[in-house]
Amino acid sequence: MAGFVHVHAMLSTFLLILSIFPLASASLKVDFYKTTCPSAESIVRSAVEKAVSLNPGIAAGLIRMHFHDCFVRGCDGSVLLESTPGNPSERDHPANNPSLRGFQVVDEAKAQIEAECPHTVSCADILAFAARDSANKVGGINYAVPAGRRDGRVSIRDEPSQLPLPTSNADQLIADFRRKGLSADEMVTLSGAHSIGVSHCSSFSDRLYSFNATFPQDPSMDSKYATSLKSKCPAGSDNTVPLDASTPNRLDNKYYTELKKHRGLLTSDQTLLGSPSTRPMLLTNAKHSSVWARKVAKAMVHMGSIDVLTGSQGVVPSLIDSPYH
Ligand code: HEM
Ligand SMILES: *[C@@H]1O[C@H](CO)[C@@H](O)[C@H](O)[C@H]1NC(C)=O
Repeated sequence: MAGFVHVHAMLSTFLLILSIFPLASASLKVDFYKTTCPSAESIVRSAVEKAVSLNPGIAAGLIRMHFHDCFVRGCDGSVLLESTPGNPSERDHPANNPSLRGFQVVDEAKAQIEAECPHTVSCADILAFAARDSANKVGGINYAVPAGRRDGRVSIRDEPSQLPLPTSNADQLIADFRRKGLSADEMVTLSGAHSIGVSHCSSFSDRLYSFNATFPQDPSMDSKYATSLKSKCPAGSDNTVPLDASTPNRLDNKYYTELKKHRGLLTSDQTLLGSPSTRPMLLTNAKHSSVWARKVAKAMVHMGSIDVLTGSQGVVPSLIDSPYH
């Protein structure tokens, strides 16, 4: 009897350890590469510094790339994989090709990191670091990036169709983010990333030329702003224009101030003012830049944890295996 109790106790301790261990390995950790690759984060930072100094648009590209990675199959680097014959990848979905930019920064950081610590640092982590360093460089926003993501090997061209559409209204956007475990407030806060970067005319030209049967032009857009956009986006052209006309290269809360003036570029931007479910959040972000800055850092970390592969899941490719070379 005593022997049975003893074995039982050992078994429960064993089961307890088993149940804790997978939890521990499934979570990301700040300073994940502290002992295995201490220079990983500084290598990424230098690569971002260099690229963004030459072209601030690359900061926008890297922040958007991390978003497009995380919303499709989780933050597993699948957005980075190149199409192979017969297997077109996420990169070739119209949401990514031709507009997604900054791939060469991830490639360069990966090459330098591999030279120092082969087979150790995932591309998904490099992208998460690069997005943070971009936000820091063009917005002074800083946060620690929990790491330990591993890379997926699957990337399917059609899957970015899960990404939110620029033509969506607030309720659709809330649902898109909810499906990924993010709140309405996080959606409004992360939309503040549209404070930098550009959009192709085709992403919003319906608002200028073909809104509906009664109004060719979207009545929720300021008419002077619409006139200036029409001159930059003549019907049929596909130029690019800044998403935030006031401070196009500065990641700040001016995006929300512009929305209050009906100078949001995409339907998915301007709807945040029009909808009663998001308007109060927008007004708070517009009024308090430090509140928004804190929230966006937190929301980036949360977004960076969507459906991650950790522990023994996925792979850490070397440069040579790396399918995007
Ligand atoms: C709320 C739903 C969202 C929609 C519908 C949306 C849609 C878009 C579209 C259509 C563009 C322009 C693409 C083009 O035509 O060139 C764009 C650009 C951009 N998006 Fe979003 N986006 C959303 C959320 C986000 C989030 C959460 C982030 C990051 C946290 C983000 C970051 C960016 C950035 C930085 C750009 C500029 C990219 C560049 O200049 O290369 N977006 N987005
Ligand atoms: C066109 O849009 C306006 C403004 O949103 C709306 O009031 C009107 O009902 C719409 N008309 C049609 C025909 O859909």
